[in-house]
Amino acid sequence: MSILAEKTVPLLDLKAQHVQIRDEVLSAVTRVIDDQKFILGEEVESFEAEIAQYTGARYAIGCASGSDALTLALMAAGIGPGDRVVTTPYTFFATAGAISRGGAIPVFADIEPDTFNLDPSKTESACKSNGGVRAIIPVHLFGAAADMAAFVELGKRYNAFVIEDAAQAVGAEYNGRPVGSFGHIGCFSFFPSKNLGAYGDGGLLTTQDAALAAHLKALRIHGRTGKYIHDWIGINSRLDALQAAVLRVKLRYLDSWSDRRSENADIYRKLLADRQLPITLPNTLPYQTRHIYNQFVIRCESRDELQAYLKKHGIGTEVYYPVPLHLQKCFSDLGYKAGDFPVSEKLAAEALALPVHPELSVDQIEYICSTIGKFYQ
Ligand SMILES: Cc1ncc(COP(=O)(O)O)c(C=O)c1O
Repeated sequence: MSILAEKTVPLLDLKAQHVQIRDEVLSAVTRVIDDQKFILGEEVESFEAEIAQYTGARYAIGCASGSDALTLALMAAGIGPGDRVVTTPYTFFATAGAISRGGAIPVFADIEPDTFNLDPSKTESACKSNGGVRAIIPVHLFGAAADMAAFVELGKRYNAFVIEDAAQAVGAEYNGRPVGSFGHIGCFSFFPSKNLGAYGDGGLLTTQDAALAAHLKALRIHGRTGKYIHDWIGINSRLDALQAAVLRVKLRYLDSWSDRRSENADIYRKLLADRQLPITLPNTLPYQTRHIYNQFVIRCESRDELQAYLKKHGIGTEVYYPVPLHLQKCFSDLGYKAGDFPVSEKLAAEALALPVHPELSVDQIEYICSTIGKFYQ
């Protein structure tokens, strides 16, 4: 029998999640199909009300994806050609892609080594050396809050809009308060691999500001403020009623799923710490009062070899992110070079995400830890 046939642990197991909620999802989807109301409408409004409460936002506005949420947020902030926006180079492409797509200029600042998140002091230096920064986009990477008090303060000091990229962090908390409720706008993704994943693409904007909410609601339907009346030029980016129906079912389970991820992280911590391996476990700072572990990312020596070894033993892992954004070809005209952001570059070479999904068994975590132990023997 091959090693693979003995045990296989995928990075994510959406089928195992789906079987728990299959009947509820099918009846929710059937309700929408029977109604034949697919675009916005009651299903989306109900979801928006429920997720607003969950995220501590006054207003929640569904849209087609997390990428579009970022684009819409920048549009609502009036950020366009030539404007500078500070963000992290250690994130999914969409964070900086949205800035460039609207003609603005991403200004990168390095991350903190122990949180993987944008470093407030490096952000301040970037604001000082690039006059007139219009916005700052901290990312709550892997499901742990960025230092929001510091970013809100920087936003005030430099008169910059603060947009939280909370795509990976629905339900994460900063000092007991949900992320997405601190900046001017919060952006979420319902990509299937997120803790709250749709059955397709989906996204969300949150804000506490009534005027911004009205602007965002218009921008997601071509800037429309009345039937065939357009006060702004927007885009077509709506959350499907079918996705809203699925998300309403899943939202009821979200806390229990995120708690399971956190319990899995604790089991890893115990089992891996006991073995004294050349790996660094994810750290949480006191202000990160709830980490939702969208990913459990270790830092390790010989990362690529370890990943290949785990794969050989049937264990799925992923590298988030092998190439920091300042070194991506499409951003070469920004003029950055290797060595500009040493923390991001080092973590890009060392980070490895292990399975942490809620359906993971203790037995599987033990298997992963003992396999890692064997690799370093
Ligand atoms: C940090 C971050 N920002 C933005 C996005 C974009 O979200 P979506 O895939 O829904 O467009 C993602 C999704 O992977 C993400 O992880």
